[in-house]
Amino acid sequence: MNAIAVEPGTGEPVLVEMPRPDPAPGEALVRTLRVGVDGTDHEVIAGRHGALPEGATRLVLGHEAVGVVEDSNGTDLEEGEFVVPTVRRPAAVSNEYFDRGEPDMAPDGKYVERGIVGAHGFMAEYFTSPEEYLVSIPERFAPLGFLVEPISITEKAIEHAVASRSAFDWEPESALVLGNGALGLVTLAMFEAVLDVDRTYCLGRSDRPDPTIDLIDELGATYVDSRETPVPEIPEVHESVDLVYEATGHAKHAFETVDALAPNGVGVLLGVPEPWEFEVDGGSLHRELVLHNKALLGTVNSHRGHFESAVDTLSQLPTWFTDEFVTGVYGLEEFEDAFETGDNVIKTAVEFGTI
Ligand code: NAP
Ligand code: BGC
Ligand code: ZN
Repeated sequence: MNAIAVEPGTGEPVLVEMPRPDPAPGEALVRTLRVGVDGTDHEVIAGRHGALPEGATRLVLGHEAVGVVEDSNGTDLEEGEFVVPTVRRPAAVSNEYFDRGEPDMAPDGKYVERGIVGAHGFMAEYFTSPEEYLVSIPERFAPLGFLVEPISITEKAIEHAVASRSAFDWEPESALVLGNGALGLVTLAMFEAVLDVDRTYCLGRSDRPDPTIDLIDELGATYVDSRETPVPEIPEVHESVDLVYEATGHAKHAFETVDALAPNGVGVLLGVPEPWEFEVDGGSLHRELVLHNKALLGTVNSHRGHFESAVDTLSQLPTWFTDEFVTGVYGLEEFEDAFETGDNVIKTAVEFGTI
């Protein structure tokens, strides 16, 4: 079967031939429909994140997949059922994090991530998975099922942000998304359409005309250009906000988030930056967090419950949004196009098969 893989040091994905996998007991065989591409895939391709499976010389990419059960292999899944796989698997033997259904909270060494860290991904015509890591999706949403994984990332982030403010009466009225990439924009749509935050802002560094700024406008949010209004100046120019969601991977934003927050606000960090040394006024940062009851937290990955919520959220996103958000779905003969970045690209996917 065809698969898309990257060999370390090459910096580009290639089409490779692999044997079709056989499902082990407890696993189903899934025929892949579509697999999305995100910033993490680009980081893996560039060699800035991730690791090869043990003994392998290349990594099959892809962690945002949707497929259809081809062989249920004695599991409770039904052949023809549409499914989205979760990303993490136990590193060797299972452990308490997986036993509790909280693989997203497992520390390094206890997990692998399919298509990212130590395990082949889903960019292949078929993949196998234990049934507990396959989440059902209605057929009508299957064409967009590759959005479930990124949405699940934000489901977890919101859950943790809200949990951090659960000791008092907290109802966010304003939210700021840092980053107009795919994760930032889908999160903005969730804040607007699902969380119903009154006022939203999204930070980028693009010039108009730009399709991401059009989406920001159409969502009813305010576009903030970081070249004109750096994050610490947002309270002065606009307002201080109850919730900041960082999706730039720009390390300074982690600290600047605290300046953009209103008292009692929470900042959630998602970006995965490279090491970068710079000066920070630690005293002011510490003082702000304490004297204004602010919280700053990091979050990674998501568990099955977040995927289930994400399926529901996907069904609530307006069609006009997903139509403009997904800028390209490419067949295997033109798979390279799915990895292009540029002014007109927001979210892309590779199509391995059709319904
Ligand atoms: P992406 O497409 O690379 O998006 C990043 C966006 O941030 C880009 O639009 C970029 O703008 C913008 N940006 C970067 N620096 C900026 C600055 N100084 N001012 C204004 N805008 C800036 O990546 P993505 O897929 O949306 O993911 C976003 C980040 O989240 C990545 O770091 C990724 O690794 C991480 N991530 C984490 C998780 C998790 O579980 N924690 C899950 C998924 C992704 P330009 O395009 O103009 O440079
Ligand atoms: C994936 C997560 C993963 C994270 C770190 C993200 O792009 O969506 O599932 O945990 O990267 O590798
Ligand atoms: Zn991802």
